[in-house]
Amino acid sequence: MSDIEAIRAQLLGDIEAAADAGAVEALRVAALGKAGSITALLKTLGAMSPEERQAQGPAIHGLREAVTAALAARKEVLDAAALDIRLAAEAIDMTLPADASPRGSVHPVSQVMDELAEIFADMGFAVATGPEIEDDWRNFTALNIPETHPARAMHDTFYFPAQMNDAEGRAMLLRTHTSPVQIRTMMSQEPPIRIIAPGRVYRSDSDATHTPMFHQVEGLVIDRGIHMGHLKWTLETFLKAYFERDDIVLRLRPSYFPFTEPSAEVDVGYKQEKGRRIVGGNGDDEGHAWMELLGSGMVNRRVIANCGLDPDEWQGFAFGVGVDRLAMLKYGMDDLRAFFDGDLRWLAHYGFGALSVPTLSGGVSA
Ligand code: PHE
Repeated sequence: MSDIEAIRAQLLGDIEAAADAGAVEALRVAALGKAGSITALLKTLGAMSPEERQAQGPAIHGLREAVTAALAARKEVLDAAALDIRLAAEAIDMTLPADASPRGSVHPVSQVMDELAEIFADMGFAVATGPEIEDDWRNFTALNIPETHPARAMHDTFYFPAQMNDAEGRAMLLRTHTSPVQIRTMMSQEPPIRIIAPGRVYRSDSDATHTPMFHQVEGLVIDRGIHMGHLKWTLETFLKAYFERDDIVLRLRPSYFPFTEPSAEVDVGYKQEKGRRIVGGNGDDEGHAWMELLGSGMVNRRVIANCGLDPDEWQGFAFGVGVDRLAMLKYGMDDLRAFFDGDLRWLAHYGFGALSVPTLSGGVSA
């Protein structure tokens, strides 16, 4: 009995004094592990006479319980203390003035995406997203671009190796446009649908105006009785709000995209001023010209049907526009590659303050 009392006093004292989780664990092993002191005591029970066992058993089991509880209690205290230290070390003083610590800025691409979300929210559009790693069915096939279609080759697609094909055996790729979000939205949401889908897209292409990764924003409207007039009004309203001027003049040029029919490329009038393109005015006027800005059209019946909707009931329009291009035109950068160089001087010059949140009432680029 005195043996047990001695072990108890020793262990409980040691546990109370353990300085960290490692010490607690070492004590647990020394007492309760395979070769532990309490484990050894428990083993002696087998060789005892029934009377002896009746006397010793409860004492030994009681010792084990007391030590187990003490270990848990000590661990809890140490964990709480460790958390306190960590919280103190990681605390941020929110009252510090912002210029007391290193500063960042909002990248023009993020700023423009926020502006677009604000402008389209006012017209009842929600923001939708999809993955940058996409399958070839959503990026191409469902959009009416079959395997043999020349548009597939034109997209300079980055494919993943065939071992990465998905469960349905579809090839995986980096999406070449935001149009697969049209498919994802139509398949997961009941019409009427009004969304924009901003995000990164990838094509194996690189020069002053092309980078292998760039940004697009997709627009999609699906409802009953939608026609080209809705498309033109939406684009005009969007561009007037974005460029913050009323003299935006659009020209819709017949074009071809497999996923829209009819398709139109949209040009905007601009003039050259101090080496910069200023959007506005009629491209046919003196000193003005037309610049291609976006692709659009009425969603092809086959695409609507591919998504399980009845094209006799539901129609819509879609458009796609380069976000980086929009940023360059509005804020005057001339080399797209600089967008993604991470040069702090460029970011300080073209970046936006974290608090300059675009709002329609304050002017979207405020
Ligand atoms: N996805 C097309 C592109 O990347 C743009 C587009 C979108 C055209 C929607 C029409 C409708 O070039």
